[in-house]
Amino acid sequence: MPKTPTSRVDKLLSSMGYGSRKEMARLAMAGGITLDAAPLLDVSIRIPVTPDLPKRMMVDGDMLDPIPGMVILMNKPLEVTCSHKEVGKLVYDLLPARWRRRNPAISTIGRLDKQTSGLLLLTDDGALLHRIISPKRHVKKTYRAKLARPLDGSEGALFASGRLMLEGEEKPLAPAELVIISETEALLSVTEGRYHQVRRMFAATGNHVEDLHRECMGGLSLPDSLAPGQWKLLSEDEIAMIFQ
Ligand code: URA
Repeated sequence: MPKTPTSRVDKLLSSMGYGSRKEMARLAMAGGITLDAAPLLDVSIRIPVTPDLPKRMMVDGDMLDPIPGMVILMNKPLEVTCSHKEVGKLVYDLLPARWRRRNPAISTIGRLDKQTSGLLLLTDDGALLHRIISPKRHVKKTYRAKLARPLDGSEGALFASGRLMLEGEEKPLAPAELVIISETEALLSVTEGRYHQVRRMFAATGNHVEDLHRECMGGLSLPDSLAPGQWKLLSEDEIAMIFQ
């Protein structure tokens, strides 16, 4: 069993974006922090940072935010960018504002283009992020692509061959799986995460992707109940499904 981490209350809350340690001390003295329904006046005490802490601690009248180590599943809308600093609407703008001030920061696990929608994972757990994007793990990402021109039937074999070389690259793509839905629609599953990979794969066949939507990562699918722009926290079991 991994050891439960402990933290000073002021350090924990400050790292979760609630304010400076001084501000946390002032808030506590004013009765703004409670633990198990009792005012917590001394923010210098160390407490175990357990998953049930949000249910036990209130800050300024609200349940504590998720403790460090969260994984978020988002239905990324179109026209929103996976970046911390570009101009325009960012995926982080869809989360509570305070979460922008968390340290460790929340980052996307890989990226989707501005013009791609669908399943996007975000986390503040750097080790988990690297495990998911590591090429050694072969986490399968499945995309639904709508194409400008009819498929000619040769694409599946080419994508599965492990010999497709994208323009400007030196290493061929790992085999990928194509499932044809209609003349102009297909599901493509890839295990790598190269720049604009799916669009460039279809471009290499003389086609053009008009709509791209990610439906799955590993054994985890985007639930129908999650509308574009909505997100939810993943449970331990759901996180494990990414590796299935
Ligand atoms: N491949 C692409 O071309 N774009 C994405 O957003 C993801 C995979």
